[in-house]
Amino acid sequence: MQKFDTFLLKNGREVDIVFPSMEYLKAVTDFVNKLSKEDTYLSFAGEEYSLEHERAWLENILNEIKFKKNYIIWAVVDGRIIGGCDIKVGRKREEHVGTIGLMVDSNFRGQGLGEYLIRKILKIAKEAGLQIAKLDVFSDNVPAVSLYKKVGFVEYGRLPDGFFRKEKFSDKVEMYKNLK
Ligand SMILES: CC(C)(COP(=O)(O)OP(=O)(O)OC[C@H]1O[C@@H](n2cnc3c(N)ncnc32)[C@H](O)[C@@H]1OP(=O)(O)O)[C@@H](O)C(=O)NCCC(=O)NCCS
Repeated sequence: MQKFDTFLLKNGREVDIVFPSMEYLKAVTDFVNKLSKEDTYLSFAGEEYSLEHERAWLENILNEIKFKKNYIIWAVVDGRIIGGCDIKVGRKREEHVGTIGLMVDSNFRGQGLGEYLIRKILKIAKEAGLQIAKLDVFSDNVPAVSLYKKVGFVEYGRLPDGFFRKEKFSDKVEMYKNLK
């Protein structure tokens, strides 16, 4: 287990913070499938992912991490992944820009984990030399928009009705944070 930190939830529960590895294949598959079933504000929208699909995905991710094209951290409790944050490095003329992804298991939200994870990945990204972090968020995803503003992201663009979820359109809000 590549544990590098411990985080205490507001309820006092200890969470291991780890870097991805193949040993978490089953755990990450379960995590993704739980989020997909929830049909929350993510790209997963109800589909179920097989272990084999996730194995190929994880192999690719581990390769990206090896070549410093992606930085990912997971939060683990009792062998289960309950949160994850990543920053994917841009290509060619965008190598100084990283795109953030963030998700916390619904049973563990509101306990400070999302904020911990994004602050940690921003620190890792800055240390790695990235200069800008960016992300897209649904305009009606109040918890996420509030969190991103809290940690210093600002809106730089908005595509009206750019997202469609649960029979409803919402604006795609584009936000960035300067890491310099
Ligand atoms: C967005 C998400 C990652 C937040 O994670 P979390 O662990 O619940 O957030 P935290 O407990 O660390 O909260 C940190 C801050 O976020 C904001 N926030 C979190 N939940 C909130 C809520 N229900 N309403 C309003 N603001 C909220 C607040 O600013 C909060 O700071 P505060 O505690 O000082 O008020 C989580 O709700 C999630 O995974 N949602 C589903 C997936 C998703 O939407 N990901 C983002 C895609 S862009």
